[in-house]
Amino acid sequence: MPRIAVYPGSFDPVTYGHLDIIRRSQELFDLIIVAVNDNPSRDILFTGHERVRMVKELIKDFSRVRVERFEGLLVDYAQEKGAGFVIRGLRALSDFEYEFQMNLMNRKLNPRIETIYLMTNQDYSYLSSTIIKEIARLKGSTSGLIPDSVREKLLKKMTGELKA
Ligand code: PNS
Repeated sequence: MPRIAVYPGSFDPVTYGHLDIIRRSQELFDLIIVAVNDNPSRDILFTGHERVRMVKELIKDFSRVRVERFEGLLVDYAQEKGAGFVIRGLRALSDFEYEFQMNLMNRKLNPRIETIYLMTNQDYSYLSSTIIKEIARLKGSTSGLIPDSVREKLLKKMTGELKA
């Protein structure tokens, strides 16, 4: 049976930290579904479809990776996809509490789905989509933190926002 894993997140926007986790997950699973969460949230900058497109562009050469948008509960989505695993990246201790809570809740909702944690590469341990958006909003440089294609879209989004 193929080992299918779901790598869920907001990816708003996708960073080099996320891409590092996707790349490393390929060694562990037969298929990785990058699941872009599209539940309503006030803090999300890019639409679900925009986020899916951005990730798709970046993983087009990865044969074992697919990108999809999902709504609703993660465990329901994973089950529907036949995935026995969820992948999450861990940066620092500060991530732990949230991940711990999410893990216990997901396990209560569906004990058959196991979450696997990959330690973020130290080069990206300080990166987060939230910080990226703040830097871009304040006109700082995000060079080297996110791929150029994402940076372009982020800058356009920010300019659009300022005009609105
Ligand atoms: O990248 P993020 O924002 O930390 O990802 C969080 C995400 C999307 C994985 C989480 O919010 C999630 O799984 N949302 C789907 C709704 C759900 O299943 N909630 C219960 C989890 S405790």
